[in-house]
Amino acid sequence: MNSFEINKIITAILVTILVVFGIGKISNIIFDKDDKNIVAYKVEAPEGSSVQAKTSESSLDINSLLAMGSIEHGEKVFKKCKACHSIKQGGGNKIGPKLWNAMFRPVGAITDYKYSKALSSYGKEWSWEEMNGFLIKPSSWIKGNKMGFAGLKSEKDRASVILYLNQNGDNPKPLP
Ligand code: HEC
Repeated sequence: MNSFEINKIITAILVTILVVFGIGKISNIIFDKDDKNIVAYKVEAPEGSSVQAKTSESSLDINSLLAMGSIEHGEKVFKKCKACHSIKQGGGNKIGPKLWNAMFRPVGAITDYKYSKALSSYGKEWSWEEMNGFLIKPSSWIKGNKMGFAGLKSEKDRASVILYLNQNGDNPKPLP
């Protein structure tokens, strides 16, 4: 064995070590030994399913939900909101923004009311589905909003108050 051959063997060993070590390194980066990435993946899955839960919870089918409600019952349910909201035409802001015309206006649209960042940057409008989802549990539907209200668990109550909100506007929409 001449020194040239020994060199080749040493080089081969070094390359092998490098490759093995290198792959180890790369896989460390990809799979992150601290489980950070794996956790990140795990977060992604429940996030997807929570979106699903969000929609399935809220829209057992919005038509059937709204069919459970009545404007008269909604007026009664709205008593829970009255401490913080005016619903009358021309009514002002209280602890919460005025709610005349609330349905189908953009979220956080009252210019003389100081909304939380969460609401003012939400970027959607108060559709049937959004309002229903919000009223189930305001704090989890729009994270970080400042409406101090636990939510309406009863589907009938929610449907009714949504119909009542819809009724108290310039152009009540026909049911979907
Ligand atoms: C304890 C006071 C309080 C009660 C009770 C309350 N709200 Fe609110 N509501 C607020 C506050 C404060 C905000 C503004 C939230 C923010 O800016 O994050 C708000 C925001 C809203 C908005 C968003 C309006 C907009 O302009 O985008 C709607 C819709 C709403 N409330 C409906 C209701 C309904 C319906 C009820 C009763 C079932 C209710 N609220 C009960 C305080 C209350």
